[in-house]
Amino acid sequence: MCGIVGYIGSNEKKNIILSGLKELEYRGYDSAGISVLSNNILSTFKTTGKLINLENKCKDFNSSGFGVAIGHTRWATHGKATEVNAHPHFGESSSVVHNGIIENFLEVKQLLESRGKIFLSQTDTEVIVHLFEENLKIYPNHLEAFKNTINSLIGSYAILLITKSAPDRIFYAKNGSPLLIGASKDEIYFASSSTPLIGLIDRVCYLEDGDIGVMDTKSFDNLKNIQPMGGEKISSQKDGYRYFMEKEIYEQHKVLKDTLRNRILDDDIILDLPDNFEDDISRIYICACGTSYNAGLSAKYLFEREAKIKTDVVIASEFRYADPIMEKDTLFIVISQSGETADTLEALKLANKNNLKTLAICNVDNSSIVREAKYSLLTRVGIEKGVASTKAFSSQVILLWMLGIYIAKKKSLISIEQVRTQVSNIKASIEATKVNACIHDRLKKISKRYLHGHGFFFIGRDIFYPLALEGALKLKEISYLHADGYPGGEMKHGPIALADSELFCVSLMPKHLLYDKIKNNIQELSARDATICIVAQEYNDIADDIVLIDKFNSYMEEFFAMMIVLQLLALEISIRLGNDVDMPRNLAKSVTVE
Ligand code: F6R
Repeated sequence: MCGIVGYIGSNEKKNIILSGLKELEYRGYDSAGISVLSNNILSTFKTTGKLINLENKCKDFNSSGFGVAIGHTRWATHGKATEVNAHPHFGESSSVVHNGIIENFLEVKQLLESRGKIFLSQTDTEVIVHLFEENLKIYPNHLEAFKNTINSLIGSYAILLITKSAPDRIFYAKNGSPLLIGASKDEIYFASSSTPLIGLIDRVCYLEDGDIGVMDTKSFDNLKNIQPMGGEKISSQKDGYRYFMEKEIYEQHKVLKDTLRNRILDDDIILDLPDNFEDDISRIYICACGTSYNAGLSAKYLFEREAKIKTDVVIASEFRYADPIMEKDTLFIVISQSGETADTLEALKLANKNNLKTLAICNVDNSSIVREAKYSLLTRVGIEKGVASTKAFSSQVILLWMLGIYIAKKKSLISIEQVRTQVSNIKASIEATKVNACIHDRLKKISKRYLHGHGFFFIGRDIFYPLALEGALKLKEISYLHADGYPGGEMKHGPIALADSELFCVSLMPKHLLYDKIKNNIQELSARDATICIVAQEYNDIADDIVLIDKFNSYMEEFFAMMIVLQLLALEISIRLGNDVDMPRNLAKSVTVE
């Protein structure tokens, strides 16, 4: 989703901003722009499409000496993805970038138009710069003018503003969208996530909601909560794979070992949670969006069957406005790969307000969700660049599974022997994510049969139902084909009306869980001539197509082996359709607006 980078200093500002924006590119965007203020000249460049277009547009531009600069990648919310709507937006002598949504922009715009301001774009953001310039006429102090501007806005935002009459500083405000400030010797950097700043700064300040201020090269030390920030820039490479998504599918069996690291000792599970963590927990509420929600739904089956803890799972955007009943004995878990998803973050804030015990399962340390949650456990699978989540999903399921067993053990709901069995099952399940080259070849081959038709149903039962949801989500995200996930037993209650030979049913048929039940459901579809693609351990004659996984002894190993099949199937169909696998249309990696 939208990305922000800002810079104060004497190095080549254009290059710094462009390379910062490049680090945010994987998150998804549809236009980009930069403004550089140096030697009393404010220059702005904007383009639609990829950053390479912006680089070409400003290739002859250089800015020598000290100055300030801001840049932005935009994922359209208000107004189409046009050059005019791209950020930065400018007034007579100022320029602004913004992530988030200004909810009252129409009122502010009408007021400014009544005072003669002319608007160029359809965005909500443009009001900020015009209002600031109006306020400058009333408040000669720049910061006062900026504060008054921000205080008139309702919504969520991370904002950077530069203006010619204060050429050595950047004005900033944060509410609901992430923003951080970093410093190295004589330079100040801003960004909407730490990725662009790694290797450039040695200290960082993660701004809090409500922070409004101004920064020059001398004022960094006045900030609260400054932390050291080390690390070298490790640019994630495709390492010979065609796409980041493919690489991330293949590396799961390795990175999942990092999810386990120091958390399994002598066949026991040790989590970095306080001793009495399990006290007062008699039920679990899980809240998340998208793939993370599917991981949460998978965890419900594990929590209830293996750990004997009552669990409810809810989509964060639904939870927020449903006046949910929050009982004190609830552990409230949020799951988020990015740690920045706006709906999940707000749901977490609500749970905190209601004094629930909150725990984040997240892949990004220091993200807004990790900082907001009372407790957190990191999935530790490294940066995920493909917009379609793969290793994030598997790591979330593994970590939640461990958490369930950990709590059940501490509450004496299961025996030490059962814990041991689960631990060896977890380890075996990680092994099951190793890609078998023959299976991948088979998927490359059969994918050509699934490029048309009027839609896909992915079906499974029990924990294979959330896996079916995840398979359908992966496919629709990167193939743009219609796909739905369904519990196998539910098809005859409506969806089976769609069955004909052009309906593709990807059916998850584990040997170790409800085999006969799902077989019946597949037979019902086959009898109505649906095209059936079965994923199973053994040959079965109901199938039109079959993808055989290796032989496993437990349903969770089958779960993870089938997950790999579904991820690869989506990948191969998308490649055949000629789509941009890593940056599919309309999607963003980090969804920072509600
Ligand atoms: C799907 C996908 C999205 C995210 C969702 C939540 O492949 O990536 O559905 O899972 O936007 O994102 P996080 O996990 O970052 O909160």
